[in-house]
Amino acid sequence: MLDIKLERAAALKTKPAVGQPLGFGHLFTDHMFVMNYTEGKGWHDPRIVPFSNLSLSPAAMVFHYGQEMFEGLKAYRSADGHTYLFRRDMNAKRAIQSNDRLCIPRIPPEDFVQAVRTLVAVERDWVPSDPGTSLYIRPFVIATDDFLGVAPSKTYLFLIILSPSGAYYESGLAPVGIWIEDDYVRAVRGGMGFAKTGGNYAASLAAQVKAHDSGFSQVLWLDGVERKYIEEVGAMNIFFKIDGKIVTPMLNGSILPGVTRDSVLHLCRHWGLPVEERRIAVDELISAQESGSLEEVFGTGTAAVISPVGKLRWKDRVMMIGDGTIGPVSQKIYDTITGIQWGTLEDPFGWRVTVD
Ligand code: COI
Repeated sequence: MLDIKLERAAALKTKPAVGQPLGFGHLFTDHMFVMNYTEGKGWHDPRIVPFSNLSLSPAAMVFHYGQEMFEGLKAYRSADGHTYLFRRDMNAKRAIQSNDRLCIPRIPPEDFVQAVRTLVAVERDWVPSDPGTSLYIRPFVIATDDFLGVAPSKTYLFLIILSPSGAYYESGLAPVGIWIEDDYVRAVRGGMGFAKTGGNYAASLAAQVKAHDSGFSQVLWLDGVERKYIEEVGAMNIFFKIDGKIVTPMLNGSILPGVTRDSVLHLCRHWGLPVEERRIAVDELISAQESGSLEEVFGTGTAAVISPVGKLRWKDRVMMIGDGTIGPVSQKIYDTITGIQWGTLEDPFGWRVTVD
């Protein structure tokens, strides 16, 4: 159990007014969690302090070799004023996988959860209550040794910052156009694709800019070896409804094991829908679209929850999906997951945990 010290901010910021559009990731709360790691001593000095800039050496290793990891989860305000977290144990477990891949010392899952929970409890008045809003929680670890050699750092900082946020994509649940990328790849097996680390997102930017410049919202990534099999969409996992079946790429080492992905699989199985986790070739999508059996396509992630796809571009072909509105299964999944998160629906799976 961490002994977390609390230093309260002398002056508090003005919180967003009810009804004020929040956007995503622009606003930050009054406090943050910080804990140091030093080789030989382990993780130490857990504390909640006023949100402020960091002072780091320009030689800090994170700036040069990207030794860092992050997580993303949310706190939700229910109509009766409770604050909930959703499946935070999964984020704590995934953090271990990311840390191991990046040679960052592990944070015990119970300490990760305690740190998140304690900071959210301190900042509970920042959890927004407007429909569709939540408090986005961003835990992350950075390598802080001032050393330009390529080696694991001997010192780290674990921080958690909080951002009251609305929808991740301005388009919300309106289906978007997706560019199937045939040149750049996001990750390869044996690389870092399954880990939540900045490098994977940096690697995605050039293709995202290319897709935007061509009038598409996001990139659909193919595998880095055969460039044939579907992996992810933008920064999200991807699902297809093909001929009544819910199909998603199986986890293969280059795909992020999303918490929302896992929740969608659970829900669909609970509803008795046929579910397949397997390789999906781009050719299969083309045939399914041509035969009319590609019924729905959607991305899943913590930030946006569900992001419906209305159009897929592959080389000189543009494939339309559905009628330009969110599909019925995508909508049902969105309503159920957010209903559990916001406390308006029963939670038969024990995913929702009260903070206060
Ligand atoms: C998510 O969907 O939660 C993501 O991982 C996107 C995040 C990088 C903002």
